[in-house]
Amino acid sequence: MAEIKKKEEWGSRIGLILAVAGNAVGLGNFLRFPAQAVQNGGGAFIIPYLVSFFLMGIPLLWIEWAIGRHGGKYGHHSTPGMLDVLGKNKILKYFGVFGIFTNLTVAAYYCYIESWTLSYVWHSITGTFSGKTTEQISLFFSHYLDLGNGSLINFPSEAVIFFIITICLNLWILSRGISKGIEIASKIGMPILILFGIFLAIRALTLKAGDHGAIYDSIVGLNFLWTPQFDSLTNPKVWLAAAGQIFFTLSVGMGSIHCYAAYLKEKEDIALNAATAGWMNEFVEVILGGSIIIPIAVAYLGLDWVKANVGFEMGFRTMPMLFQHWGPILAALAGMTWFGLLFFAGITSSIAMGQPVMAFLQDSFNLTRKKSVFTFGLLTILLSLPCVFFYEAGAFGEFDYWAGTFSLVLFALGESIIFVWVFGIDKAWEEINRGADIKIPLFFKYIIKYITPTFLLAVFIGSFIKPVDSNWTGAFINFFSGNGWQFASDSVIGNIFNIGIVDTRWFINGLMTNVFVIDMTRVLLLSTFILISAAVHFAWRKKKRDQLSQERNS
Ligand code: PHE
Repeated sequence: MAEIKKKEEWGSRIGLILAVAGNAVGLGNFLRFPAQAVQNGGGAFIIPYLVSFFLMGIPLLWIEWAIGRHGGKYGHHSTPGMLDVLGKNKILKYFGVFGIFTNLTVAAYYCYIESWTLSYVWHSITGTFSGKTTEQISLFFSHYLDLGNGSLINFPSEAVIFFIITICLNLWILSRGISKGIEIASKIGMPILILFGIFLAIRALTLKAGDHGAIYDSIVGLNFLWTPQFDSLTNPKVWLAAAGQIFFTLSVGMGSIHCYAAYLKEKEDIALNAATAGWMNEFVEVILGGSIIIPIAVAYLGLDWVKANVGFEMGFRTMPMLFQHWGPILAALAGMTWFGLLFFAGITSSIAMGQPVMAFLQDSFNLTRKKSVFTFGLLTILLSLPCVFFYEAGAFGEFDYWAGTFSLVLFALGESIIFVWVFGIDKAWEEINRGADIKIPLFFKYIIKYITPTFLLAVFIGSFIKPVDSNWTGAFINFFSGNGWQFASDSVIGNIFNIGIVDTRWFINGLMTNVFVIDMTRVLLLSTFILISAAVHFAWRKKKRDQLSQERNS
């Protein structure tokens, strides 16, 4: 077993909890959750969402914390090493490549959006949005992204500047280490974020029709989210979306939680820590995340408009415009708190993606912290280039699909099987409960052993074969009457084979098409995965060599 070097550790329990909650609480809570909930029928979404939280989210948190702390004992702070010590098979460490790959590639597009939030804070304070028409504000958003030429507000250069500032801030925090960097950032960021969130939620929920130009009571939006509809329970589409949101929001399936847990002492509690951070995330997501943009947008634009236009971009496109109804001072304050909240949510998550990558470089290649920070920064910038320059052409979407969605499910499925069936459920259960400050009910042992992996397998298979229009009944009827299976274009199969795209040419009249951008993005992602696998391969060879020479010397 590897010897243990001088180990970094968390400074305090509250710091640890805030850091882990900061990891989980992110853009997903405020932008992705409301969009997913509305797109999947509001109240129809909530039940599958909560069931996924209990049967998959919480168990996965425990599994990941346990794998992480166990790996940390052997000096591993990233998943290749952590999975390697769970069993004898040499392949395990290569499966762990996912835990580096996803963090690196998600960081690449996540930091880009994070940088928008910073720039919007700036523009809210300086009053850029005030007095602008709806069109101008939404143009601001497009032109801001569109790297075209001298348009109305030609901001691309500015977007790049904010992006670089954001990356530098991330790297600076990471370079200060676990307790002086990540922990302090979370201790500052999390309380501010919650405060801003409460302020905005109160403002949102007290909006009445006729108030500040509002047309409807904001409560209409809240009712839509919170009136449960039980018929959704039989709709696989809603289940897939709900499970996907649970993954993203809890940061599970990424190798990020594992990394934070690896800095715990062997007998420090994980059962209560994991549960507390998970619940804190849910509070922020369903209470605060659900009470800001949807109620405000519904109050001004109506439920039907919101249903038709919702998406994660709404937070940038629509919010600054609606804040203008509140007068210049409140608008500036609302803009500052809304985008400030997003920024703090974002940065405490993106540092959590950086740490595992850095830890891998430090553990495997003995890089110093400075050098590993620098390497992470460089790789993130390189990988983010397609997202920055070919955002509209679909590069961003590919990153989000393969790295931010598909890989998470695959990795979570694999790690839960490895932990429960290779490492063994009895050892696993003991690992989860060692030093525990709460008593986890015994039935969770069975949930972890049977239900969670089955649930994950169902989600995984479901996303592979999702049928056209998510019409499962129709698809099965078709299938059994011998007409084959019609894959949805956004199923895994549909994605791989470009189903639904009529013209798959890479170039038309010498100009590259979206299909080209999408295919090249896939090549880039795949190459990244292969390169990391190679790095793991060499790291293990080096370790073996070092061990041999040590044995020879002694
Ligand atoms: N959970 C974060 C969010 O909700 C995203 C994230 C995923 C952060 C993975 C770290 C690791 O935005």
